[in-house]
Amino acid sequence: MRKIQLDAQSGKIAAFPQPKPRNDCPARTADPSASRSIAELYAQHFAELQRRTEQALARGGFDHLVVPSGTLHYQVFDDRDYPYAANPQFKAWVPLTRNPGSWLVATPGQTPKLIYLQPFDYWHVVPQAPSGWWVEHFDVIVIRTAEEALAHLPKDPARCAILGEPLSKLGEFAPNNPQPVIDYLEYHRAFKTPYEVAMMREATRKGVRAHRAAEAAFRAGRSEFDIHLAYCTAARQDSNELPYNNIVALNQNGAVLHYMELDREPPAQSRSFLIDAGASHHGYACDITRSYASDAGSEFQALIDAVDAAQLVMCDQVRAGTDYKRIHLDAHLALAGILKDFGVLRISAEAAVETGVSGVFFPHGIGHGIGLQVHEVAGFAASDRGGRIDKPAGHPYLRLTRVLEPGMAVTIEPGLYFVDLLLDGLRKGEHADSVDWNRIDQFRPFGGIRIEDDVVCTDAAPLNLTRDEFAASA
Ligand code: GLY
Ligand code: MN
Ligand code: MN
Repeated sequence: MRKIQLDAQSGKIAAFPQPKPRNDCPARTADPSASRSIAELYAQHFAELQRRTEQALARGGFDHLVVPSGTLHYQVFDDRDYPYAANPQFKAWVPLTRNPGSWLVATPGQTPKLIYLQPFDYWHVVPQAPSGWWVEHFDVIVIRTAEEALAHLPKDPARCAILGEPLSKLGEFAPNNPQPVIDYLEYHRAFKTPYEVAMMREATRKGVRAHRAAEAAFRAGRSEFDIHLAYCTAARQDSNELPYNNIVALNQNGAVLHYMELDREPPAQSRSFLIDAGASHHGYACDITRSYASDAGSEFQALIDAVDAAQLVMCDQVRAGTDYKRIHLDAHLALAGILKDFGVLRISAEAAVETGVSGVFFPHGIGHGIGLQVHEVAGFAASDRGGRIDKPAGHPYLRLTRVLEPGMAVTIEPGLYFVDLLLDGLRKGEHADSVDWNRIDQFRPFGGIRIEDDVVCTDAAPLNLTRDEFAASA
């Protein structure tokens, strides 16, 4: 594989020699969470959250961490609510994703309080009393109206770091989101505890099961809409439970990066299929993309295979000490090399990267952090005291610029697309001759390719949650 050197000062890139590729990325690797019960894993996770909270409060000069679960939002001039999304700072503590109006209070040296709203309500199903492996770690106080929470929150709101959205304001408890507290917690959230890795593995199990059902529906000639339904059925999750809107794209639609139209009718011929779809488990996400060709002997299938092989090498770069920006920049060179091999590029891969031509075909970042949020926060955080690590010049869509360390979970999602809008720009610009337009026209009807895995950095070989699960369920 070709490599690119990143100059930290200028943000510019320069070519340097190829290292030997490793082949061990997709292998199943020892998982620290594998043999322990969920109760044990959670207890360790809980202890880590308490440790982080103590530090974060000290940074901000507060006594209590107060976290509302969030509230329902209503559509304008209407009494219909939008799908509820739990405050990530709340679901970091408790696997409750359907409980608006509840609160968490963590005070160093004390058992955290969960103020749990279980309203008297005959219009809706009332949440069950909390149960499970995590409950014993909290003083649970059941309230019947949202306002009752006030009686159980700390006495002095001024001593509280209250993390949440403005709508969660209750009396004098308005979220103040102190930056030093947020900076600390969000920076460290990048490092997944073994409990969190186990939750992400469960999400991945559902997602992979559903990806297999979606592939079968594609091969049976179904419409995008019907493939989507097959996916949801197999995941046992409806759209609102999924961590993001499914991208189910047949043929040219694969060239729309966030295509979410879901055509009701199948095309006359399904040539290609790009599906970017995840699943959730106790508030944690997986984010998986696969690409398929209907004809196993086609050039498009060969192009998919080439991206797949390159993606595995990129996954293997998820190692402690590697700058994630470098994985992104190396991916440009690797993908440009594939375009060169397939006769799309008429210039060298290096020249395609230097001139920005590679970005016409790979117009997004190589990935992002993942966990409680599909696009995990603090991707640019320079430290737990704030500061920002800028994106490399000319790469505005990269979402993660940190150096990888053990525990970080990231996606690796290279893609190659034939996007009319971007190709039009290339044709009109000074680099129009750098590509073979006949070759591009041959690939256009297939839209694009993306392959996306969720990978955890360790102090040894990376854990590829996605590949592990595809292999285990084959
Ligand atoms: N599914 C959105 C993404 O891959 O980032
Ligand atoms: Mn992603
Ligand atoms: Mn995705």
